[in-house]
Amino acid sequence: MAPRNRIGVGLIAVGWMGRLHSRAYLAAPIHYPELNTQIDLVRAADPDETGRAHAHEVLGFAATDADYRAVLDDPRVDVVSICAPNFLHQEIALAAIAAQKPFWIEKPMGRGARESEQIARGAEQADLVTAVGFNYRHAPAVAYARHLVRSGAIGTVTNVRVSMLADYSADPAGALTWRFLRQRAGSGVLGDLLSHGADLAQYVVGRIASVSGMTETFIRERPMPLRGATSHFSRGDAEGPLGVVENEDYAAALVRFDSGVLGVLESSRVAVGPRAEYGFEVYGTGGSLRWNFQRLNELQLADDKSGYRTIMAGPEFGDFARFQPGAGTSMGFDDLKTIEAALFLRSVVERRQLAPSAGDGWAAAEIVDAIERSAESGAWERVPVVTARTTFDAPATD
Ligand SMILES: NC(=O)c1ccc[n+]([C@@H]2O[C@H](COP(=O)([O-])OP(=O)(O)OC[C@H]3O[C@@H](n4cnc5c(N)ncnc54)[C@H](O)[C@@H]3O)[C@@H](O)[C@H]2O)c1
Repeated sequence: MAPRNRIGVGLIAVGWMGRLHSRAYLAAPIHYPELNTQIDLVRAADPDETGRAHAHEVLGFAATDADYRAVLDDPRVDVVSICAPNFLHQEIALAAIAAQKPFWIEKPMGRGARESEQIARGAEQADLVTAVGFNYRHAPAVAYARHLVRSGAIGTVTNVRVSMLADYSADPAGALTWRFLRQRAGSGVLGDLLSHGADLAQYVVGRIASVSGMTETFIRERPMPLRGATSHFSRGDAEGPLGVVENEDYAAALVRFDSGVLGVLESSRVAVGPRAEYGFEVYGTGGSLRWNFQRLNELQLADDKSGYRTIMAGPEFGDFARFQPGAGTSMGFDDLKTIEAALFLRSVVERRQLAPSAGDGWAAAEIVDAIERSAESGAWERVPVVTARTTFDAPATD
């Protein structure tokens, strides 16, 4: 057997996403044996001791540090995952670029379009492949929806609805973590959820050209976090003072695509009822389809005049067959990240951009920024075309 490609992995931040990236690196060569890759978890960094202990004792990283620079300085690290809070993304990504390490970075890639542009341009100038955590793209039912839309199976697309509704911040007792502070997070639900929705819309239908947006903060004050609390789901100090929420809980926008297709994007982090209802609907002259993350293994399709029917994802949809042999056996969120890890590793091994790119991260950030500008100005705002490599419009890969 040919020698396997050894890929040394460095991880920056061992929170929810950092742990998930690590599991995905380990799973990818099992589901994609042709990668012929041996994953070596070399070094993980997190200022929090619990995170470092998890990285070493549970995930199996050989070494840990409090300072992320130790990861970038380690010559055995070939690729890096950047899973820190948003305010650190730009600094860490630029340091990874300077260290010539391909990186897989979580969304939102930067705090807004300018930081995202700098990251995308820097990676491209250094000729590095990248990956951005637009995981919903990888659901096999989404891949199939894209195929149906782009092959004309639902006729000419007329309009699109993207709805990203969550309840993760619906409890006013939820802590005022970094996610609610401008300097630390940038925008609120726009960067956190609507960036996923913007990417999904562009991936399935095409580029969004202009927007008319509005934003609102419904829960304006929250209790301060207890020590160590950072997660979406942390409760605050019920006895202590309240602090001000600095970014939006809700955003919505009318959009026009380059193709003339019309659309509506909507996102909330404080919706009571939907848990993680992240989905889209595409309407065409010959049919319609809709998908929702809470039922990620299903696609609803109306391709005649008898209304929607539900199709279960199966081996003919996207990468489904890498995970299960037959329709009806469900895939989960971790599997979407495994598909993303495999795309990233393949991009690194083959030195060509296959995973959602830093250019895609920048493109989504331009939509988010345009919605913010529009909410401020009350006018329609143009979404600038990004000049870095994007993948959302790429034909399906082999
Ligand atoms: N793709 C997705 O669906 C998805 C889902 C959740 C979060 N995210 C994104 O992932 C990123 C992280 O979110 P999370 O939910 O994992 O957060 P988290 O709060 O669970 O973890 C953040 C981690 O970063 C660590 N950290 C803080 N400062 C650091 C530093 N200087 N160096 C290294 N580590 C540091 C913290 O100690 C913590 O362990 C965010 O950008 C978020 O938007 C993406």
